[in-house]
Amino acid sequence: MTATNNKRRAALVTGAGRGIGRAIAIMLAEEGYDVALTARGADELSQTAHECEAHGVRALALPADITDPAQLGRVVETCVREFRGLNVLVSNAGSFHWGAADTADPDDWDHLVDLNLKASMRVTRLALPHLLAAEDGAAVLFIASMAGRVAFGMNAAYVASKHGVVGFAGSVFKDVRERGVKVCAICPGLVETSITHDIGADHAKMIQPEDIAEAARYVLRSPSRVCPTEILLQPQRAPWAK
Ligand SMILES: NC(=O)c1ccc[n+]([C@@H]2O[C@H](COP(=O)([O-])OP(=O)(O)OC[C@H]3O[C@@H](n4cnc5c(N)ncnc54)[C@H](OP(=O)(O)O)[C@@H]3O)[C@@H](O)[C@H]2O)c1
Repeated sequence: MTATNNKRRAALVTGAGRGIGRAIAIMLAEEGYDVALTARGADELSQTAHECEAHGVRALALPADITDPAQLGRVVETCVREFRGLNVLVSNAGSFHWGAADTADPDDWDHLVDLNLKASMRVTRLALPHLLAAEDGAAVLFIASMAGRVAFGMNAAYVASKHGVVGFAGSVFKDVRERGVKVCAICPGLVETSITHDIGADHAKMIQPEDIAEAARYVLRSPSRVCPTEILLQPQRAPWAK
């Protein structure tokens, strides 16, 4: 699924302002994809867009809060109109809160589920008709988490939202596999981004955002006969160990 100059391909990345989404956007630009980028912060998005354009592709910065279905709808519509289609969706935007299940603020739970799970489901629903119409294959990459495969304490809503993403991804694959769309849930352990900045773990041992981008590249470069449906990425050395 590598893009070439004579046949343009397009990708939409949520949460592309920084961290994992930014690294994946740059990887996609390296692969020749035109990229539509969304997040709330316009300045970070413009910066990512400039970094993508340096690889000779078009980059659209589309600031939006993707928990608002109307804003999300406009992002997908603009992307598809400007690029005349869509080949790759990267559902990456997400957030994280600490909190014990007995004391957590239910509003924080709502926000995590709205962003990490429901916005991911909505953007997939909006993008799928365009992905299914794409010639030469298409892909949906979910940036889930190791917390989508195992439970951690003090993280109940995050764990629930990411288990939801992994389950959703598996079900979407069953719905679209025969029509040539790859679907993969990428499940990283700790990655050095703003989410993990203050959690007290060893940054030197964390995965880097570019490592996640390489996993995404692997999925896109896989032959059309194969789909890596889940990729688990652990830090080699445990960042919590002293
Ligand atoms: N870092 C880790 O250790 C780790 C591990 C496993 C999985 N993940 C997952 O990886 C994904 C990316 O996380 P990250 O670590 O790269 O975090 P990050 O550096 O905080 O990046 C998150 C991105 O999402 C955007 N975003 C947040 N809320 C949004 C909203 N309501 N609407 C639109 N965009 C929004 C942010 O931009 P704005 O704030 O400007 O909107 C930012 O661009 C998340 O789904 C996270 O759960 C992270």
